[in-house]
Amino acid sequence: MQNKWWEKYKQNPTEKAYVIYYRGKPVGTLSTIYKRKEIELGRVMLGEKRYARRGVMSSAINKALSKFKNTRVYIKVLNNNHSAISFYKKNHFKIYKRNEKLTFMEKFI
Ligand SMILES: CC(C)(COP(=O)(O)OP(=O)(O)OC[C@H]1O[C@@H](n2cnc3c(N)ncnc32)[C@H](O)[C@@H]1OP(=O)(O)O)[C@@H](O)C(=O)NCCC(=O)NCCS
Repeated sequence: MQNKWWEKYKQNPTEKAYVIYYRGKPVGTLSTIYKRKEIELGRVMLGEKRYARRGVMSSAINKALSKFKNTRVYIKVLNNNHSAISFYKKNHFKIYKRNEKLTFMEKFI
């Protein structure tokens, strides 16, 4: 079952998953999903908390997005994930919508 999922995932040209390296070690992940000429950011995760707040994930998203231009980028964040909302604000995302569960943020690059 997982193999099938992986094979299908590898064929999907719209999503790119990245492993983030810091000091030669894999420390995090992120993905860009390109659909309808827009990009959804996903799986943004710093796994190694000892490297938090050093700019690792900001630098990673900037690098992943640097190949796109004239595009809207958006992300969905849980309302109670204040550190992530602060992280995206620091990276120039703005809140454009909220529902009872999620905060939707966007920026134009
Ligand atoms: C959010 C996350 C990706 C930030 O990664 P990071 O490498 O530490 O981020 P950077 O160093 O590039 O940016 C740091 C900024 O993020 C925010 N931030 C990160 N950790 C925070 C914390 N514990 N409390 C409050 N703000 C925090 C702040 O704005 C911080 O800026 P500051 O240090 O000047 O206050 C990381 O904490 C993480 O993986 N969190 C768990 C997964 C998650 O919530 N992902 C987002 C899902 S949508």
